[in-house]
Amino acid sequence: MKFMNLGSRENASRYVAVEMFKEIHFNECTLLGLATGGTMEEMYQELVELLKRHQTDISCLETFNLDEYFNLDISHPNSYMSYMKKHFFDPIGMQNSQFHLPDNDLFDVEEDNLRYDAAIRDKGPLHIQLLGIGVNGHIGFNEPGTPFDSKTRVVELSPETIEANARFFDKQDDVPVQAVSMGIETILYSNRILLLALGDKKADIMAKLYHMTEPDIAVPASSLLTHPNVEIIMDEAAAQYIT
Ligand code: F6R
Repeated sequence: MKFMNLGSRENASRYVAVEMFKEIHFNECTLLGLATGGTMEEMYQELVELLKRHQTDISCLETFNLDEYFNLDISHPNSYMSYMKKHFFDPIGMQNSQFHLPDNDLFDVEEDNLRYDAAIRDKGPLHIQLLGIGVNGHIGFNEPGTPFDSKTRVVELSPETIEANARFFDKQDDVPVQAVSMGIETILYSNRILLLALGDKKADIMAKLYHMTEPDIAVPASSLLTHPNVEIIMDEAAAQYIT
């Protein structure tokens, strides 16, 4: 696992955007695992600009997102579908058939989750899996205690995650308490993993992860120690306790 402190937020976001861009631009049919959240906004902005500037052919690009809030209308402005359409899918003109998010309605959710994993297995491995990280070390919405062989499923969000997500909602009661998340096993089924961590709030968990030598289910991101090709990209604020 390679830890990289790239100084500014802009540099860290740009590094990830350029790596994603190269994969899409130079590969005919790229398969990506995508993340949402505040951390990714500048990265997507940069990536969209790069793809447009270089007139990259994205007709064969296919993406699988990590997660979606459970039982929240996908047209809701805070759904991850809305986030992805706003920040990435619509600006580069992706067709509906090219992107996938876990199905989040009550109806047949278990079968849909099995289908999601099967689609990734059939088409994969993902060329790049993009990750953010929660203050408690979650990746996707795999909260502390999640087994490393977990698959896509409905998950209960932890109190820390609900609190962190509350900033995107007007009322506390509206903040979702459940999500559908790609499992850790599914996340690890990828050739390369880029984890982006920005800002002071991530400093404690980054220092903790940096000092871990063995995977421990109490810190889901430590499952990445079992993967051969992981880069952890940080700004100075997130890396401040790593010496
Ligand atoms: C989102 C996701 C989450 C976020 C994490 C950090 O798709 O999988 O693991 O990456 O909660 O969120 P932000 O970037 O808002 O701090």
